[in-house]
Amino acid sequence: MKDQSSHNWLYQTKTFASLYERIVGEATSIVFWRELKERFLDFIPEGGRILEIGSGPGFQAIKIFQHRHDLEIIASDFSSEMISLGKKNYQELILQDQHISRVQSHLSFVQADAMDLSHFDSETFDGIYSVGAIKHFPDRIRGLNECIRILKPGGKIFFSEFFAEASVTDMMNLIKHVRIPDFLKPTFSRFLHSKHKKLVPDKADIEKWEQELSSKGFACSEYLPGYPFFMLKLDKK
Ligand SMILES: C[S@@+](CC[C@H](N)C(=O)[O-])C[C@H]1O[C@@H](n2cnc3c(N)ncnc32)[C@H](O)[C@@H]1O
Repeated sequence: MKDQSSHNWLYQTKTFASLYERIVGEATSIVFWRELKERFLDFIPEGGRILEIGSGPGFQAIKIFQHRHDLEIIASDFSSEMISLGKKNYQELILQDQHISRVQSHLSFVQADAMDLSHFDSETFDGIYSVGAIKHFPDRIRGLNECIRILKPGGKIFFSEFFAEASVTDMMNLIKHVRIPDFLKPTFSRFLHSKHKKLVPDKADIEKWEQELSSKGFACSEYLPGYPFFMLKLDKK
């Protein structure tokens, strides 16, 4: 059994949360934007309601908000420090952009643990997405089932995460977007690659999830070419 949750407490500390924001910053929202848009967002109906799980500093949700003012977006994370950073980043955006300040009520940040989404009513979301959070869930299937419970029939799930068989070169393609000096990037890529091998799902785990979820809807996974990520998609029955 892989160590699934031992790094969780770090995100709850102010120091690590702000280090994550400063170093990782918008890296995953840069890498994933096209996939998130074409495989998830474009299927969410006008005026729909979506939820992000493990939103971190909120860059993904903010980017979606900038692109789709019609949606109600709730960004959730179990770390109050991450929620504060998300709210701060969103406030900064509102201050910069008069137009956005008129539609500000459409994005909110809520502290919630993916292991227990009882904060949200059943069958109330058109879509749920998550990038880089599922590796931290103590029980990954439980987290996915919680999401399925609060998803409307016909709703969509898009979860993305590192996978164990990814190469150091794939990792480097992500790390080139993080804010550290270039000469440190190869070492950081190798460090993250070996650290993640013990923590993230492998292809067999992902296949098993697909099978376990198939009674709830059409589930399938894909790998992001050139990057260390898989994408798990589900259309709820
Ligand atoms: C690697 S960060 C990814 C953040 C952001 N999605 C991104 O792409 O930069 C993982 C995030 O998942 C959150 N997280 C970890 N376990 C969680 C759980 N059980 N429920 C909700 N959020 C969780 C952490 O607090 C952290 O913000």
